[in-house]
Amino acid sequence: LFSHLNMGTAKAPTLLSSRPSFCNIGPQFIAPKSGARRAFSSRPLTQMETGGLDSDGRTFKNAEEMWREEVGDGDPQKKFQWYNKGINYWQGVEATVDGVLGGYGHVNTPDIKASEDFLNTILAERFPDAGRGRHLVTLDCGSGIGRITKNLLIRYFNEVDLLEPVSHFLESARVNLAPENLMVSELHKAANFYCVPLQEFTPDAERYDVIWVQWCIGHLADDDFIAFFKRAKVK
Ligand SMILES: C[S@@+](CC[C@H](N)C(=O)[O-])C[C@H]1O[C@@H](n2cnc3c(N)ncnc32)[C@H](O)[C@@H]1O
Repeated sequence: LFSHLNMGTAKAPTLLSSRPSFCNIGPQFIAPKSGARRAFSSRPLTQMETGGLDSDGRTFKNAEEMWREEVGDGDPQKKFQWYNKGINYWQGVEATVDGVLGGYGHVNTPDIKASEDFLNTILAERFPDAGRGRHLVTLDCGSGIGRITKNLLIRYFNEVDLLEPVSHFLESARVNLAPENLMVSELHKAANFYCVPLQEFTPDAERYDVIWVQWCIGHLADDDFIAFFKRAKVK
């Protein structure tokens, strides 16, 4: 399992397991998804030591303080509220590319291009002949309306499962990915649609060649993020 950041501040990929599964953790999203828009300084960030503001103008010394305040320190009620605020935000967003990109719909094309470059790199590194001729399966986590699946993953993978906790996004993904709306052969399809949050999901063992997480991981508290990586890791 690899993690990868699309940002200039990317840290080196971390090898967690020898099985070819990958996470593409897209750019940190800073729309007011959960009432906690963070405004960091423009100097390069190599550590999360920088202070900032949330969307209510409240200042935090560093990310750790913000997370403690927002998610609590082992307080299940606070964590519940954190996840609820995130979902409530997205429930009020229209099911469009501009909606899921927080008003930055114009980044769709370069975003997909960068993701495709990354995907090609890992496929080439991990599979003989970059996976061609092999039946490949992926999971698109926090898939929204299926933007990445439709524009990228479905071309490379024979089966794509989508996980998205906001039901109107997932319904839109079903329509967008219906066979009649896809420009791919019938050997490529959206297979399963899971309406659950990532912190509650356990991937089926051995099902996925790649686990794709783009523009969504910032929703998870650190401990849930780590726990998900552990559940995703093939034993
Ligand atoms: C910025 S959108 C990105 C959607 C999609 N990945 C894309 O790039 O088009 C963030 C997505 O994460 C979803 N999300 C929010 N909380 C989540 C959670 N706890 N687990 C999984 N997905 C979540 C939202 O509903 C939304 O669809």
